[in-house]
Amino acid sequence: MSARIVVLVSGSGTNLQALIDASANPSYGARIVAVGADRDGIEGLARAERAGIPTFVRKVGQSSSREHWDLTLTDTVAAFEPDLVVLAGFMKLVGPKFLTRFADRVVNTHPALCPSFPGTNGPGDALAYGVKVTGATLFVVDAGIDTGPIIAQTVVPVEDDDDVATLHERIKVAERAMLVENVGRMAREGLTIADRRVRFGRP
Ligand code: GAR
Repeated sequence: MSARIVVLVSGSGTNLQALIDASANPSYGARIVAVGADRDGIEGLARAERAGIPTFVRKVGQSSSREHWDLTLTDTVAAFEPDLVVLAGFMKLVGPKFLTRFADRVVNTHPALCPSFPGTNGPGDALAYGVKVTGATLFVVDAGIDTGPIIAQTVVPVEDDDDVATLHERIKVAERAMLVENVGRMAREGLTIADRRVRFGRP
């Protein structure tokens, strides 16, 4: 039976699209049962709708507090009974209730080589620092900012004439492949975490 995945997005959703395309093949081992966002009118939601996947929007501003938003998002996602929650360009930190409810089942993809350049401007921060390689990191979400146990990383070069857009685009090509490969493996093989070190396979 294929693993149930909920994907959360905030933007263009090209990582989501890569997962939608991969999961069209039953041998992938995972299917997307819902896509959620913290804002409406984004291409990520449109991609889900075109694929016939249920969507929902939970905006922070519609909740009375960040704690209430955390609870609302947690309950909404829980109703889809996910085996795995994938943050794919979701530009909010999920809260403590969310992390408790889906402990070790929430993964995020970040456009830098963690622990370098955490936060919302990974490609721009890498460019400004002057590194010669950067990339993307898939990790299990914990309470920190891009600090969780690392599942996979992929490396891309920084070219002399890069700006933030060209660098981020190169990262995203590698990032999508990394995400598809590793979410599939998680779904099919499970994941074991011991002292931050992650390996595929059930305990
Ligand atoms: C991706 O590069 C993702 O790593 C990044 O946003 C982009 C979303 O692209 N996320 C973060 O920076 C989170 N800190 P997409 O909407 O086309 O998938």
